[in-house]
Amino acid sequence: MASCAEGIYFHGLVWDRSKPAGGPFCTDPDGNLILDLSSHGAAFPLGYNHPELIETATRAAAVNPGRYGAEIVGAWGDDPEAINIPTPSHLAQKVISLTKPYGLDTIFMSNSGSEAVENAMKICYDHRRNMGIGFCFQGAFHGRTLGATSLTRSRRAQRAWYPHIGEIIELPFCHCDGECRCGWKVFTALHKGTMNRFDQYLDSDIGTVDPEQVAYIILEPVQGEGGYRLPAPGFLQEVAGVAKKHGIPLVLDEIQSGLGRTGKWFAFEHYDIQPDILCLGKTLRVGATVAPRRMFPEDNARLGGTWSGTNAVSAAVAYRVLEIIERDNLLENATRVGSHLLEGLKSLEQKYPRVHSPRGLGLMVAMSIDGNGVAGKVMEEAFKRGLLVFTCGFDSIRFMPPLDLTIREADLALDILDQAL
Ligand SMILES: Cc1ncc(COP(=O)(O)O)c(C=O)c1O
Repeated sequence: MASCAEGIYFHGLVWDRSKPAGGPFCTDPDGNLILDLSSHGAAFPLGYNHPELIETATRAAAVNPGRYGAEIVGAWGDDPEAINIPTPSHLAQKVISLTKPYGLDTIFMSNSGSEAVENAMKICYDHRRNMGIGFCFQGAFHGRTLGATSLTRSRRAQRAWYPHIGEIIELPFCHCDGECRCGWKVFTALHKGTMNRFDQYLDSDIGTVDPEQVAYIILEPVQGEGGYRLPAPGFLQEVAGVAKKHGIPLVLDEIQSGLGRTGKWFAFEHYDIQPDILCLGKTLRVGATVAPRRMFPEDNARLGGTWSGTNAVSAAVAYRVLEIIERDNLLENATRVGSHLLEGLKSLEQKYPRVHSPRGLGLMVAMSIDGNGVAGKVMEEAFKRGLLVFTCGFDSIRFMPPLDLTIREADLALDILDQAL
């Protein structure tokens, strides 16, 4: 992967905007056509140069720049100068129309996924009136700002040397097939039988943590950076059940899995649980923390700031993205093309002994490859042949393509991957 121009701290693919790009394809500065199934880390949900998004961004950027000045003065609602350009308030209403059925009726927008997580933490500390303990999970990734880094457990390199919030307890993320081996299910005193790790911490007889001192529990319903790990059956329900029993806010980080990626608007909808607070980003182009009104601090100076209404051009584009997902049935497309991709990975598993554990939900798909560093090597070989994919976890390659990926494009990616393997 090329690194960018001198003076810019950047790591990733450089695409040349003067050369052809469209859908999942772009061209690099050497003229190579790249099939990009990484979607810039799931943040490009409709691929390159989507004409409707370009039009929206161009029109939104052309209106009175005063509109984009500090949202602190309340630049909301329809702008007579900009008929048909969605505003941050349109985006807010659109997101809430999706989350309200789950009791999440209030949104706070920011600039990134990490900030969405930071704000969820602050809302919980405020709501619980404690500076209490946070529970997070092995393999979790919640972002790169300092608070979010404190909760991140996917790779040592993301955390080392940075100061962390002290009171964080890490739990196993159970993705075990059949018998639990990860430590989530524990045996305790005979009269208690099998408990889960979270329950054990909070238990009135044998626990070490007073539930009143807990501020939140946070997790990704399907882990992203940690390895595209799907939760074991019943695991998320157990977590949600214990959180509810003790009145502890359950924060779901759907920054990667949310807004259509798994074939539903939210991954939690596959598992029959509901969050108290939901964090969104990536597909949304901005960050969003969504919760019931009663959980937000009364004093809005606790969260608000210059850009708390979010970037207006990004919000306009995000609104169009959500409209297009709805209009073009892209949830259904993610389910259909995702299962086709998964079937293809299962065929590669039959062909290559090192390939195992093909898995996925919608267009959040991965496979593992045995051998130290082999997944990274396969990623490089695929890239040399024109396919861009990312690794995740210790041994996996992940696919998070645009939500409008076609079967033909998926097949092309599978062919290249076959050659790379
Ligand atoms: C699950 C999850 N949470 C949080 C983040 C952080 O989002 P951002 O990079 O927009 O700050 C990411 C980004 O990869 C993510 O995948």
